[in-house]
Amino acid sequence: MKIQSIRGVKDILPDEIWKWQHIESIAHKVYARYGFKEIRLPIFEDTRLFSRSIGETTDIVEKEMYTFQDRSGDSITLRPEGTASVVRAYVEHKMHTPPSILKMFYVGPMFRYERPQAGRLRQFNQIGVEAMGSPSPIVDVEVMTMLIEFFKELGLTNIKLQINSLGSQDCRPHYRNILKAEIEKYLDKLCPNCTNRYQRNPLRVLDCKVEQCGKIKQELPKLIDHLDLASAKHFSEVQFLLDSAGTSYSVNPNLVRGLDYYNSTAFEVTSENLGAQNAICGGGRYDTLVEELDGPSTPCFGFALGLERLVSLVPFENQKLLLKKPDIFIVCLGDKAKVVTFQIAHELRLKGLRVERDYEFGSMKSQMRKANKTQCRLTLILGENEIHSKKYVLKNMETGEQIECSAQDISIEIDKLLNSS
Ligand code: HAM
Repeated sequence: MKIQSIRGVKDILPDEIWKWQHIESIAHKVYARYGFKEIRLPIFEDTRLFSRSIGETTDIVEKEMYTFQDRSGDSITLRPEGTASVVRAYVEHKMHTPPSILKMFYVGPMFRYERPQAGRLRQFNQIGVEAMGSPSPIVDVEVMTMLIEFFKELGLTNIKLQINSLGSQDCRPHYRNILKAEIEKYLDKLCPNCTNRYQRNPLRVLDCKVEQCGKIKQELPKLIDHLDLASAKHFSEVQFLLDSAGTSYSVNPNLVRGLDYYNSTAFEVTSENLGAQNAICGGGRYDTLVEELDGPSTPCFGFALGLERLVSLVPFENQKLLLKKPDIFIVCLGDKAKVVTFQIAHELRLKGLRVERDYEFGSMKSQMRKANKTQCRLTLILGENEIHSKKYVLKNMETGEQIECSAQDISIEIDKLLNSS
């Protein structure tokens, strides 16, 4: 039986990886401008970390976690997202000492047992960003602006920033009661999942993806109309700052994130070019999570973007040069050329060149075919005659031009040719 990759899991092949590397290098560059440093976190954690932070009644915790017992019987979960781990690390390593705001980003795979479809995987990759330690709306806007700047540097067009406010602990209980009472009017029309959980967490109904609940959702009261004074002030400052940064956005009162830890500003970036799974990125404020995980009071703001979705959107046509092709391919003909080929390849690589060669010692024709396939810029031909005369042939694969050069001039000639075009 042929073993294949698991459903909803994808390989990233060598011919595609340059796209990922390009996106990640732009992320490093743009995020550094704003003071973000990378953090690397484990991909599995104590299950309680996720159930406590993401929320017991969320889809992720109820239905989507990859949870298993390890050999000592501990319950382990493959991380479905990165924020909980960042907060765990923040508390564990007592990172809350001054300077008061800590800015971190992470890149890596996340795991959710969702129904696979275009743009939705069971193992997917995120770039996440967390700014920890300030309640200021300036942080919200700086982070969202940084994200838009990052997307622009990648050449993304047709993206939409949508924002909402999810209020604070002060207005939520009141709103929850109003919402619950309203939901009760539609109980016979809700999906079984919502019927089960609306008592414990009525806000989840607003995030339900089932069509029948989607229609009802439009009729339900909006949190944005029930904000307390402080949340309303925060939200209007966010909008004022976004306006003054020239960042376009729309307010979407139906935007409720799929994780329970959010309060105040929540946002998503969507693209029309993605199909049904149109969210490239989501995030917002989570001012109480650090405390809930036994750390000191630390207001935070962050986001995570889906790398698979982003890779599918970036216009890479203009960036083909990023695909690292060999500088030179060495064609090796005959036994005597073997050692010299080995030595020259070694020397050129030590000089920093990307060198490819043939390992099967086929005919000139078959080796030239391989050279062509690698899209190398130059080919060096080493046959018995060349070894004997110590005169090698260098071919410029772009122009077809060939020159003869002596053994000692070889790297000078290669340099000249590589730098001439
Ligand atoms: P999230 O909205 O669950 O937020 O995920 C963020 C992004 O990850 C989504 O917008 C989407 O692009 C991508 N994504 C999610 N699930 C899948 C999937 N099954 N297949 C492919 N891509 C997917 C979070 O994860 C929060 N931790 C974000 C955050 C950070 N909030 C504050 N800080």
